[in-house]
Amino acid sequence: MLKHTRSSDRALYDICAEELERQEHNIEMIASESTVPIEVMELSGCIFTNKTLEGYPGNRFQAGSHIADKLEILLNERAKAVYGAEHVNLQPYSGSTANYSVYAAILKPGDRVLSMRLDQGGHLTHGSPANFLSKVYQFESYGVHPETEVIDYDALERKAREFQPKCIISGGSSYPRLIDYKRIYDIAQSVGAYHMVDMAHIAGLVGAGVIPSPVPYADFVSSSTTKTFCGPRSGMVLCKAEHAKKLDKGVFPGALGSMHLTTMAAKAWSLKYMQSEAFRTIMAQVLVNARTLAEALAKHGFRIVSGGTDNHIVMADLRPKNISGTVFQNALDSVGITVNKNQIPNDPASPFVTSGVRIGLTSTSQRGLKEPEIRRIARIMSDVADSPDDAAVLDKLRSEARELIAAFPLYPPHTFDD
Ligand SMILES: Cc1ncc(COP(=O)(O)O)c(C=O)c1O
Repeated sequence: MLKHTRSSDRALYDICAEELERQEHNIEMIASESTVPIEVMELSGCIFTNKTLEGYPGNRFQAGSHIADKLEILLNERAKAVYGAEHVNLQPYSGSTANYSVYAAILKPGDRVLSMRLDQGGHLTHGSPANFLSKVYQFESYGVHPETEVIDYDALERKAREFQPKCIISGGSSYPRLIDYKRIYDIAQSVGAYHMVDMAHIAGLVGAGVIPSPVPYADFVSSSTTKTFCGPRSGMVLCKAEHAKKLDKGVFPGALGSMHLTTMAAKAWSLKYMQSEAFRTIMAQVLVNARTLAEALAKHGFRIVSGGTDNHIVMADLRPKNISGTVFQNALDSVGITVNKNQIPNDPASPFVTSGVRIGLTSTSQRGLKEPEIRRIARIMSDVADSPDDAAVLDKLRSEARELIAAFPLYPPHTFDD
């Protein structure tokens, strides 16, 4: 691993080696993470890093672009094929900049946007007061029904009629259920708004065809290419043909500068892999593992937000276990299980403390864990929640977690041997 850096900058090499060690021995369950295939790492640092390029194939601002053009064309063709999209733009550097690009394409300062509440599953870039976009556009939010914890579509429709947004955003960071995209598309059309779906979390599940696609019911679909996409740290936007010109102008020069050809190469590889049976099998197992974890945690006394999951996310309400999100996250981290604290709908606790955790099943499913191991993890989680301050119990659980994950290597043996 990093054989040149190892000799030129030992301090930096050691930090990377330490992180490899951490990921190898920990059970990674952050819902926005995945373990990238080694080719993605290879391409993310490939020779295209030397090339600066702006514009689009056939219309570039710099010379020497004819080979990069081949790359972007191949990438776009693959993204269109995987998602059945009429037009795509793979230049955004991340899910956030993919969203900024769509806003740049269709909104003017002061325009109204209706999106999902952050504390009920939305994302910072959908109008959180903490994000600069809230100073540029007027955001209003919809949320989940207090009893079912599923999006309250009737209330959303009422809000849309009252607020008359220019754009309605669906999709989020911590929403474990399928979304009725058609219903929201119909609402958007009835009030003359665009429908933008942010599928950052579920892009891999959609690409593998194991959950329904938002593409037919969205003007724009934005995404990260990490998370279930299992690709490089980058982004993507899909849209209907009629919005192609607007989108391309929104991305460049509207929101971004020169493209990151290295991660574009890595995204092209990921999109080929996404069409394989191997990827489909992993994504199908992600769904099985998430349902298994939700059921097992419920049996151990956790309350599962919305009563279950349809994707890779399990949202657990910790109040029946009398532990906060912060304390639980830290106690789990100490035994080698990585999750993040997260507010649950109508959470009485602050975002810094929280009453819940968000658990993702992508990385564990990629490593080959199946239902028996997931049930064991649920039991370990429950034991941690019952004794978060008992050093002897945590020591035992740390050994158990480490032994469990040791049977499922992060990468095949010798991957990082030089
Ligand atoms: C729904 C959603 N949109 C956008 C983003 C931002 O993606 P990125 O971290 O790639 O900028 C996230 C990240 O967690 C997300 O969950």
